[in-house]
Amino acid sequence: MSFDSQFTALKSQHKLLDAVLWVVFAVGVLKATTFVLSFSTLLLDLFVLPGVNFRKYGAKKGKYCVVTGASDGIGKEYARQLAKRGFNLVLISRTLSKLENLKTEFEKTYNIDVRICAIDVAEDSSENYTKVKEICAAIPITVLINNVGQSHSIPVPFLETEENELRNIITINNTATLRITQLIAPLIVKSAKDAHCKGLILTMGSFGGLLPTPLLATYSGSKAFLQAWSAALAGELKPQNVDVEIVLSYLVTSAMSKIRRTSLMIPNPAQFVAATLKSVGRRSGAQERYATMTPYWSHAIYHFVIENTVGVFSKLANTINYTMHKSIRTRALRKAARHAKQQ
Ligand SMILES: NC(=O)c1ccc[n+]([C@@H]2O[C@H](COP(=O)([O-])OP(=O)(O)OC[C@H]3O[C@@H](n4cnc5c(N)ncnc54)[C@H](OP(=O)(O)O)[C@@H]3O)[C@@H](O)[C@H]2O)c1
Repeated sequence: MSFDSQFTALKSQHKLLDAVLWVVFAVGVLKATTFVLSFSTLLLDLFVLPGVNFRKYGAKKGKYCVVTGASDGIGKEYARQLAKRGFNLVLISRTLSKLENLKTEFEKTYNIDVRICAIDVAEDSSENYTKVKEICAAIPITVLINNVGQSHSIPVPFLETEENELRNIITINNTATLRITQLIAPLIVKSAKDAHCKGLILTMGSFGGLLPTPLLATYSGSKAFLQAWSAALAGELKPQNVDVEIVLSYLVTSAMSKIRRTSLMIPNPAQFVAATLKSVGRRSGAQERYATMTPYWSHAIYHFVIENTVGVFSKLANTINYTMHKSIRTRALRKAARHAKQQ
């Protein structure tokens, strides 16, 4: 090969290398810019922007908010904090006495109207839904909080999950949430239109659904279902002026989590709900997802870090999650054995 042709070949190889380096550089700049922008938005959402004004959802205008699973834990706090913002309430849960006590307390403290509906949504009976419909039909509802939920009593391999537990989780978390939303959402669309305000539907998701969670497989699947369903519904109801969001949470102290002490990573229901209601319309830790929020600050940073490192569907995340829940199961079984011995 002559010197000239060797030189031409070398030059074209260099051109190719230059082009590859430019592409790598451009992709790197794009990734870094996206990362910086989304981390800045996370910080703005969590620590800088003011709380959302619920007047746009009809607060202090005689409008009603329906809360499911309202008699305890996170649901009770949603009810309390929405009452404080000036909403009348429809409280739905299983135990009538708890609902009656809350009705008395909220009506007295916040000077609002509270209607109650005691049903066991695990039954999935048409009588239950008729009851909900009768209570809600004639009142102007603009907000629905789909909070009711059930998890496994302790982490358990899917193959050993009792049929009753499996059915209850799916019926409560999914079927009841869908049926109640189908009843309430048309009422929200109408009331919001009549009052020239917006409607809002929040549904409680979970990190158990964000990350596939071994030993909580059915709960994990039920919450992942809600994630996709809620985001799809958000697209459908947006033109009708209704904001639909799924709320993602890591652990919160409650009867369900069986955790009593708060920590940096584990708020109590009051702290969790305050962060949620402040953040409506913002993604906080869920920067990569439409119509989704991870509102509590430490949960938000945790979500952001997982998403931007190993990813929620990675083998590593799955293995860590499995190890953690295996250890929780072992401790729960030991505790149950101790308890049985003492009896
Ligand atoms: N706590 C956490 O760490 C955590 C984390 C992520 C997501 N979440 C989600 O947050 C939501 C609330 O959880 P939580 O911890 O506040 O639960 P919780 O303290 O156990 O309260 C559950 C509420 O739902 C009601 N309820 C339960 N089963 C029912 C049924 N079959 N029919 C009607 N009402 C029923 C209960 O009513 P009664 O008192 O009358 O039984 C109670 O008011 C759930 O969707 C959960 O998956 C919780």
